[in-house]
Amino acid sequence: MSEESGAIPPRTLPISARAPGKCIVFGEHAVVHGAPELAFAVDLATQVFVSPSGTTMLNSDPEAIHRNSYFRSALELAWIGHPPVQVRSVSRIPKAAGLGSSAAFVAGLTAALSSATGGIDRPTLAQRTFDIERGAQGVGSPGDTSTVVAGGFVAINGGSGDPLWTIRSSEREWTVRRVDDPGWVWVVAYSGIPRSTADAVKAVGARLAEPGGPALLEEFRRVADEGISAVGRGDRPRVASLLGKNQELLREVGVSHPRLEALLDAAAGAAEGAKLTGAGAGGSILALPVPGKETELVRRLARAGGLPFVVRPVAMGASLVEG
Ligand code: PMV
Repeated sequence: MSEESGAIPPRTLPISARAPGKCIVFGEHAVVHGAPELAFAVDLATQVFVSPSGTTMLNSDPEAIHRNSYFRSALELAWIGHPPVQVRSVSRIPKAAGLGSSAAFVAGLTAALSSATGGIDRPTLAQRTFDIERGAQGVGSPGDTSTVVAGGFVAINGGSGDPLWTIRSSEREWTVRRVDDPGWVWVVAYSGIPRSTADAVKAVGARLAEPGGPALLEEFRRVADEGISAVGRGDRPRVASLLGKNQELLREVGVSHPRLEALLDAAAGAAEGAKLTGAGAGGSILALPVPGKETELVRRLARAGGLPFVVRPVAMGASLVEG
């Protein structure tokens, strides 16, 4: 297992690892049902430190294993039969905002625990990280976890070229490919309204099972496929217009929110295109700024009550932090 191929090498505790957050450009929700998605890893990260301990704890809390389903799921799937550890987690990713804070925590922790148990290749890390997140959340696609494990821009069930890996659940499989980063700056604004990914995923699943659902899913698929090729060739006007089309579909399946719509309205004069990003029903929007109007866009979003961040894609996925 060479480190050049992106594998996580074997090390002994204490081990530190980090993983980036993520931002979904096209196809959230539809990806759960097998349609394509495009996402990228963002320059906000979570870092975990894992060390031997008399008691298993997360951030000094010995009850965390009962309270935090992601922590419990990681220990059950990646650390069974091993001695207690204490984990410290420090994150710059806002929680429940659609920026992948749980996927980053799970990917960083899984990389560290897998390193301590002999190392792991990246496709297996992607599958294990998905299994752990799914174990905690009960529903969902491998979009978030594969993006934070891979880094850069990633297409799930779309794009062209050699697959990085295929992720399997009991019902479905998703193939993950790399997409070239067009090198743009993006702006995310958090509405301040936290939401449950699992609840939103279940509500959309019910909507897609109603009459007209399959046709809607087909529309999601078309927009994401076109969006993936438009990003790949750096076609900014096309990407901007597809962001709007994807937002219409997300509105139609019921995951927009008045606060998100207010942020989208506020973005209009300084963004080429915008949509909600992540599970919706709260959470954040993603906007593609008019070049040169990034600061104005941030100002508009803040004035409309959002918490804006300029985000840049990062190439590096989950990795060990070695000093
Ligand atoms: O948890 P979030 O906000 O990052 O949303 C995840 C994206 C969904 O497509 C809604 C769910 C999934 O697992 O893909």
